[in-house]
Amino acid sequence: MKKIIALLLASLMMIVAAGCGGGDQAKSSGSGSGGNGKKITMGFSQIGAESEWRTANTESVKQAAKDAGIDLQFSDAQQKQENQIKAIRSFIAQGVDIIAFVPIVETGWDTVLKEAKDAKIPVIVVDRDVKLSDDSLYVAKIGTDSVTEGKNVFKWVDEYMTKQNKKPRDGGSQFNVVVLEGTVGSSVAIRRQEGFKDAMAASADASKYNILASQTGEFTRQKGQEVMESFLKSYGPKIDILFAHNDDMALGAIQAIEKAGLKPGKDITIISIDGVKGMFQAMIDGKSNCTVECNPLQGPLLMETAKKILNGETVEKLVYVDEGIFPADVAEKTLPERKY
Ligand code: AHR
Repeated sequence: MKKIIALLLASLMMIVAAGCGGGDQAKSSGSGSGGNGKKITMGFSQIGAESEWRTANTESVKQAAKDAGIDLQFSDAQQKQENQIKAIRSFIAQGVDIIAFVPIVETGWDTVLKEAKDAKIPVIVVDRDVKLSDDSLYVAKIGTDSVTEGKNVFKWVDEYMTKQNKKPRDGGSQFNVVVLEGTVGSSVAIRRQEGFKDAMAASADASKYNILASQTGEFTRQKGQEVMESFLKSYGPKIDILFAHNDDMALGAIQAIEKAGLKPGKDITIISIDGVKGMFQAMIDGKSNCTVECNPLQGPLLMETAKKILNGETVEKLVYVDEGIFPADVAEKTLPERKY
């Protein structure tokens, strides 16, 4: 009798243990599963590693995939659209569950996204925008509002010049602005510039400003420095304001300005976009004036959206992440809280 009871108890324990194991498995694969219990595989095409911001963006996506239990197939396009198209085709061939990508430029995606749609693989556009003939080729876009970023740059700089009672360095009647633009053809470069110009045109102070020169610095520190050097050679004493489409180019430009014997942040007012730690340090050092945030921490929202899509839930077509504006006078207090 004792033996029978012991046997029954042992079987019961095995059943309970198996049940718990199954539950755990269901929980972990369930957290990273698309509704059928199978672990989600996401193909992700990143554009490269051109800036401090991009590095933070990549880390956010990788970490969020890990946390969500999603298998991430990561591909670095090294700044080439053709590499992104190849990567997307290879994700389709592998039969991943979902594709996400950061489009380096706005156009040229129709064919490959149609291939993904035909293969019934949903696509999420991350960070930058795409221009397509058919918007049903992607399910959702997660990113930042570049037009608003550009508008905020102009509004902030206009207020600052007025409050500081600044005068044009060449004794003229207008502040001369030089612009370091991002990657040619990228939605962020196009729309930041558009936002800046629109805000300027709509402002009562429009006649106070003149865009003296505007050229791409490809979102990199080195190119930002080189282009600023050439701006300084051509227009040295005329430049009042530098607007850089990202912090990295502004950081490169700061070196060029110092090399030219000028004081960045004082002789030339500097404002850029991103909000990376390197720029906060430059502001603490008195070398730059303001950064308009572009939030790279898009990973958690991306993973959450991917799961919803694969679970058949409806998601918003366009979701923007939260962003702030950080002038130099808050830099010291804010730097310890910055996550990137
Ligand atoms: O697409 C976002 C932009 O790309 C960031 O402003 C820049 O730093 C990056 O490389």
